[in-house]
Amino acid sequence: MEEKEPADFWQKHSLKFLEMAFRTDRHERVRHPDGYGRRTGECGDTVEMFISVRDNHIRSVSFIVNGCMNTNACANTVADMAEGKSRDEAWEISPETVAAYLETLPPDHIHCAELAVGALYLALSDCRDKCRNPWKKMYS
Ligand code: FES
Repeated sequence: MEEKEPADFWQKHSLKFLEMAFRTDRHERVRHPDGYGRRTGECGDTVEMFISVRDNHIRSVSFIVNGCMNTNACANTVADMAEGKSRDEAWEISPETVAAYLETLPPDHIHCAELAVGALYLALSDCRDKCRNPWKKMYS
């Protein structure tokens, strides 16, 4: 996130990408989330995702990114897409839908989308597990 961008950076990216790449309002660690997922990619970057669920629908998503700007753009997109969806619908979010939304995610960074979506899937699995065993939420 701190590397200097080349001069044509602003021209070569879509507005959607720029908005998602620089948004920071969802950077939050949540205590006792309904679902938590942590995934580290082969590049060493990590996304932690926290979901809050009400009436079987995802009410809010926050995350912590230890990685590149592309990953921040992808995690913000995943969060935007997931909020308001039912838990089942959220499984339909994929790296391809994230890349399509952003329009200018560099093709050699599709793994950033895979990382963000993977963290969401882990959070959804954790949420399913906690629904079956509500006492587990107290220990997350
Ligand atoms: Fe590692 Fe983006 S470069 S996930």
